[in-house]
Amino acid sequence: MWVLGIDTSCDDTGVGLVRNGQVVVNLVASQVALHEAYGGVVPELASREHLKALPSLTERALAEAGIGRKDLDLIAATRGPGLIGALLVGYTFAKGLAWALGRPFYAVHHLEAHIAAAWPEDLEPPFLALVASGGHTHLFEVQALGRYRLLGATRDDAAGEAFDKVARLLGLGFPGGPEIERLARETGEAIPFPIPLRDQKGYDFSFSGLKTKALQLVERGAPKAALAKGFQQAAIGHLAEVVLRAAQDTGHRVLLVAGGVAANQVLQERFRRAGLRVYFPAKGLSQDNGAMVALAAWRRHQAGLPPSPLSLGATAYWPLEEVGREGA
Ligand SMILES: Nc1ncnc2c1ncn2[C@@H]1O[C@H](COP(=O)(O)OP(=O)(O)OP(=O)(O)O)[C@@H](O)[C@H]1O
Ligand SMILES: [Mg+2]
Repeated sequence: MWVLGIDTSCDDTGVGLVRNGQVVVNLVASQVALHEAYGGVVPELASREHLKALPSLTERALAEAGIGRKDLDLIAATRGPGLIGALLVGYTFAKGLAWALGRPFYAVHHLEAHIAAAWPEDLEPPFLALVASGGHTHLFEVQALGRYRLLGATRDDAAGEAFDKVARLLGLGFPGGPEIERLARETGEAIPFPIPLRDQKGYDFSFSGLKTKALQLVERGAPKAALAKGFQQAAIGHLAEVVLRAAQDTGHRVLLVAGGVAANQVLQERFRRAGLRVYFPAKGLSQDNGAMVALAAWRRHQAGLPPSPLSLGATAYWPLEEVGREGA
C-alpha cells in the first residue's frame, strides 16, 4: 500500500512516499535562502513558494519511487498547526488529488507526524514523547495513536528556536541547531550556563534565560565555541532533567524524542545514557518532511481510524490533545 504525505506547515515543502510503513522517497524543498534576507519566514512568500514547488516535487517523488499517481492508495497532508496560508497550499493540493483519484484522505496533525517519525511499528503505547522543534517543546504521554495527554510545554521559546537565536547572536547561519552543534565540537571547554526551572513541580521548559545569558556573554566577547558548547549542554541538560523526572513520576520507561532538535547527537547521547528505552527518528525524518505525514496516515489506517472528510478545513491552531475531536 502506497501513501503520499505532504507537509507545507512552515517554510519547507515536504513530499514523501511510504510503502507498507517503509519510507521509500522523502523530498524536501528548502526555502531557507528565500527567507534569509528578511531574518525570518515571510508567510506570504512561503505560501507562493509552496505553490510553485509542489506539483514538480510530487512528480519527482513518484518518478523516484517508480510509480504513477494511480498507484497511490492513501493521500495525507498536514492540516495544522502552522502558518495558515502555507498549510492551505499543501492541504488543498492533497485533497484535490484525493478527490480526483477517489482515494481516502487523512488530515494529519503536524506533531502526530513528528511522533510517527520516531515510532517503531511494533512499539505499543503508553510511552512518553518529547517533541522539540522550531515551534514546539512539548512533552506528551502517548496513551494510544490519537490519544495524547500534555504533561508540559515551553513557557517561552521552543528549544529549536533558542538554538536558532543563539546561533544568530554568534553570527552563524540558519538553521542554528546544526551550526551550534558543529561549533561546540571544536572545543573541549564549555562556559557554564544555569539550568532553567530547577525547582518547578511540573514538567515545563524555558529557554529565554539561556538566550539572555548567551547575549550577555557575546557582549562581553566570550569565546564563541565555548559559549556554544555551554549553551548546548544547558539546553539539552534542561530537556533531559524535565523528561527524566516525568518518567520517574509517571513510571514510564519508554521515550520517543522527535522534532528537528532530536537530530542533535549530544542530545541523543544524553538520552541514551538515561536508563530508558529511547527512540529517535531515522536520519532525514526529524525535521519537517512529507514522509512523516505519510507514516502518521499509514498508522491511522492500520489502526482502523477513519479518513477525514474533504470538507474539513486546515487550521493554524490545533492542540495535539484535541486530535480526533475536530468534528465535535
Ligand atoms: N542538530 C541540531 N541540534 C539542535 N537543533 C537542531 C538540530 N538540527 C535542527 N535543529 C533545530 O530544529 C528546528 C527545525 O525543526 P522542525 O523542522 O521540526 O521544526 P519547525 O517546523 O520549525 O517547528 P514545528 O515542527 O514546531 O512547526 C530548528 O530550530 C533547528 O535549529
Ligand atoms: Mg515541524
